[in-house]
Amino acid sequence: MKIQSVKACFFSPTGTTKAVVQAIVRGIQHTTSEFIDITNPDSRKQHVLAAEDELLIVAVPVYVGRVPALLNQWLHAIKARKAPTVCLVVYGNRDYENALIELKDKMIQNGGIPIACAAYIGEHSFSGPDTPIALSRPDAEDLKHAEAFGRRINEMLLSATHMDLTSEIHVPGKVPSQNPAPLLSVDFINISHHCSGCGACAKACPAGAIDLKAYSITDKEKCILCCACIKICPEKARTMKNGTIKDIAIRLSESCKDRKEPELFFNEK
Ligand SMILES: Cc1cc2nc3c(=O)[nH]c(=O)nc-3n(C[C@H](O)[C@H](O)[C@H](O)COP(=O)(O)O)c2cc1C
Repeated sequence: MKIQSVKACFFSPTGTTKAVVQAIVRGIQHTTSEFIDITNPDSRKQHVLAAEDELLIVAVPVYVGRVPALLNQWLHAIKARKAPTVCLVVYGNRDYENALIELKDKMIQNGGIPIACAAYIGEHSFSGPDTPIALSRPDAEDLKHAEAFGRRINEMLLSATHMDLTSEIHVPGKVPSQNPAPLLSVDFINISHHCSGCGACAKACPAGAIDLKAYSITDKEKCILCCACIKICPEKARTMKNGTIKDIAIRLSESCKDRKEPELFFNEK
């Protein structure tokens, strides 16, 4: 089947999901590819429409084994209109549990036709200098793998009819309930005197949780713990306080040392 264009949508507070999507799109090598970055709150005001002759890629990080709840509304509004769809989750080398099946299920509900699903590994949001977790992933091997995945998607589309692609793809996990998984509501960021007030943290916050006039104020009810503000700070003024999240980071840094590899899933035909 002939694909007119590729629409690659991604949410990526700390950049790992974005890096994987970009590598997949490089591998697909379509002349008309559009990236739709929905990380910034304003960017989620626009909704995505796709068509039968477009390839739709939807990529999200895994939060507590699920699709980040912050995205539910935006994902729900996608009109996929029989577009062949690639579902991608990126996780921090612990587990992706029900995230991939949840994303696939949401895309089917939106009218998409999942043709391939994948789980890749990215440096964990909670990874830090003393608590490395999947440090520097996706690495060169992961990106090579993602490009090859892109080439395989392209070959699959070239050799298939629309009907060939409609059989079900089996991915691990159980479709979770509609209720979003609750995130801890904690004040876990320390701000040192090195803060220059540049505001990069507030701009990078995907939840609009950092006060735009007083960057030291974070609304912990809105914060999704993504650590984008910590990772973007040019002065390294934002760090994790000792406490619940730091304890989780220490634990994960110990328990998630074994390297996991990307997993791909295709339909049975
Ligand atoms: C609140 C929260 C929950 C997370 N839950 C998981 C998880 O259940 N399993 C896992 O392996 N990684 C988990 N991660 C790590 C992210 O999935 C991982 O770091 C991902 O690469 C981040 O994507 P990004 O760089 O595009 O923001 C979690 C991260 C956050 C912030």
